[in-house]
Amino acid sequence: MTTWEFEAEIESYYERGEEGARLTRSPRGRLEFARMQDLLRRKLPGGSLDVLDVGGATGIHSQWLAEDGHRVTLIDPVASQVAVAAELPGVTAVVGDARELPWGDATFDAVLLMGPLYHLTDRAHRVQAIAEAKRCARPGGVVAAVTINRTSGWCDWLLSQSNDIDRKISAEDSLRILGDGELRFSDQDMFTTAYLAHPGEVFEEFADAGLKAPAQYAVQGFPGYIPELERLIDEPEARRHLMDGLRVIEAEPSLLGASNHLLTVAQVPS
Ligand SMILES: C[S@@+](CC[C@H](N)C(=O)[O-])C[C@H]1O[C@@H](n2cnc3c(N)ncnc32)[C@H](O)[C@@H]1O
Repeated sequence: MTTWEFEAEIESYYERGEEGARLTRSPRGRLEFARMQDLLRRKLPGGSLDVLDVGGATGIHSQWLAEDGHRVTLIDPVASQVAVAAELPGVTAVVGDARELPWGDATFDAVLLMGPLYHLTDRAHRVQAIAEAKRCARPGGVVAAVTINRTSGWCDWLLSQSNDIDRKISAEDSLRILGDGELRFSDQDMFTTAYLAHPGEVFEEFADAGLKAPAQYAVQGFPGYIPELERLIDEPEARRHLMDGLRVIEAEPSLLGASNHLLTVAQVPS
């Protein structure tokens, strides 16, 4: 049983049961999924690994990681999501919190934090989650975390001006969030409580958790904001050029913050 409090507002958002379809529904979600697969398959250590998927929700990433031959354990605070993940072949799923992982030191080859860091609005809690991931990872293993970039709300507002999209962030909200990163909507159709970070902040939080000099990668990159992204994703040749180009620019420091999501990867010191 965890001693950390999980925000009721975040829990009720994920209790709606929509997370399982997030990465298959929209073109940007589909690009995120394809890029996360491409990045993790290249950046995780080789071989068959013990992988911990922290904040794994219904297991969208755990599923393909298990199919790839890894031994996957998922942890998430939302019991209804964990129940879905527990049905996946090759995946062990438990309810719990990133800030207090119920495993001993050096249990996993890779610990993924793909969700918790942007839902923990208190910096000390984010550093605690990264430190827990580091503790549970074996020396030589990796900790990989996804964050939502600070610019993303404002980019969505820019996009909404030229695109017919259902959920529109207001100009006022998007500008305020661009300044302070604090995302709190009264309307859960927009999203739930989150903190949007600049890449440099994540880099510093990793360092404060004992993981120096992590590598950082743009997940969707700025192409994730291109109107009519669907055409690029659906047409095989265009998709190949998109994915190839993203590999070329993924670690370019000047472009990291212009992506919807960012992946930060550190090796655990031996
Ligand atoms: C947007 S979903 C991401 C799901 C999946 N990992 C992915 O990348 O698509 C964010 C997840 O983080 C989980 N989460 C939020 N706060 C957390 C915490 N303190 N510890 C662990 N997981 C948390 C939520 O329950 C939710 O399932």
